[in-house]
Amino acid sequence: MSRPLLTVILAAGKGTRMRSELPKVLHRIAGRSMLGHVLALAQGVGGDRLAVVVGPGMEAVRAEALAAAPQATVFVQENQRGTADAVLAAREAIAGHAGDLFVLFADTPLITPETVRKLLGELDRGAALAVLGFEARDPGSYGRLLTAADGTLEAIREAKDASEAERAVRLCNSGVMAFRLDAPLDVLDRIGNDNAKGEFYLTDAVALVRAGGGRAAVVLCDEDEVLGVNARGELAQAEALWQRRARARAMAEGVTLIAPETVWLAFDTVLGRDVVIEPNVFFGPGVRVDDGAEIKANSHLEGAHVGAGARVGPFARLRPGAVLGRDVHIGNFVEVKNVALGDGAKANHLSYLGDGSVGSNANIGAGTIFCNYDGFFKHRTEVGAGAFVGSNSALVAPVKIGDGAYIGSGSVITKDVAADSLALERSAQDERPGWALKFRTMMARRKAAKGK
Ligand code: UD1
Ligand code: MG
Repeated sequence: MSRPLLTVILAAGKGTRMRSELPKVLHRIAGRSMLGHVLALAQGVGGDRLAVVVGPGMEAVRAEALAAAPQATVFVQENQRGTADAVLAAREAIAGHAGDLFVLFADTPLITPETVRKLLGELDRGAALAVLGFEARDPGSYGRLLTAADGTLEAIREAKDASEAERAVRLCNSGVMAFRLDAPLDVLDRIGNDNAKGEFYLTDAVALVRAGGGRAAVVLCDEDEVLGVNARGELAQAEALWQRRARARAMAEGVTLIAPETVWLAFDTVLGRDVVIEPNVFFGPGVRVDDGAEIKANSHLEGAHVGAGARVGPFARLRPGAVLGRDVHIGNFVEVKNVALGDGAKANHLSYLGDGSVGSNANIGAGTIFCNYDGFFKHRTEVGAGAFVGSNSALVAPVKIGDGAYIGSGSVITKDVAADSLALERSAQDERPGWALKFRTMMARRKAAKGK
């Protein structure tokens, strides 16, 4: 039987090796902070209570934690004296919790819910402690998992404290641990710091639990899943692993990615069935693409909704608030921001549509600009259903073009246009018959005279 779960997320590390103004755990993978990923994992596996341990002065980390998980409690670890000390920073939460305790590192963002369920499942099978381990290609500085003949865990030895024989062990500690103990604080409080680093190691809980008669289990996962991020190279590696997973998932769900390795998805990208994505497409956060839509090469989308059957790109940019109805066409070098386009509307070439709306089946000609900004305020442009905006028109907001109206090419429209009207704003065409022929003849004669 599973019990209420308190998840403690350790996020106190400054991450000096990132060489960044930003605390390490706020660096992003697929558009979401590493802390955000880990909080989502904790919430996804049913963490009933969440505690996040941050370092002193890490207000941005606190804010991010509370934005992602408003029910979380944030604790400050004043001095970083080791992972056990970090967990104990959440003492108050642990003391007030009757149930299981689960520890995650905020800089280990790729763990899957399935793996966590396996780990917590060990507690249901009677383990007092379960550790997530992996076979390391290069065990390096990881803690080594020392197992008994029956496969249970006897101890974790940190690399710096390990004998040569122990260092040869490739089975390593990911840092993720779950406890089912009557009094976890009794165990945590008994952990000392008599070791090579002089730190309070959470890993020492294993030997203590064993000594108390409890069973410690190991659950294995792939090394990639427990990649810890300490430097920018690992951040990029984590991003690559995350993207590979997300692309595979999208394809499994019926999305065509012509060159999957060139498509960049965000943590919350939603792609419908039979969506086709051409090479070199980037999704920022907040994009939904409905069934059968096509995103052509080299497009950038963020905070946008693309309706079923719509066509976007090549080289299109959809910014936050771009809402495209069914079968809308947004073509090359068109930027859309905070504009809703009704079903069947088209803007196929070289336009900026910012702040407004375009009715269904309206046609926005090449080079149309919604002049939405006067240097101080933003204003809206409303184009009615079935309207036709001729090429190279500037619609100076605030302005409304009625349903079915026509705008002559090259117009600068500053006043509202009634439905079904034609609005033209340009000087009348002046034509001089025969002028070009006369001009050419005269110039040719002049040139010939000079040449002599
Ligand atoms: C830890 C494990 C090691 C494991 C490795 C996996 C211990 C003693 N060792 O070692 O067995 O193989 O992770 O990556 O647990 N933290 C705090 N406060 C502290 C110390 C750490 O919040 O005082 C946080 C860090 O921000 C980090 C995590 O705990 O998110 C792990 O700490 P770190 O110092 O990286 O431990 P490792 O030496 O990598
Ligand atoms: Mg580490």
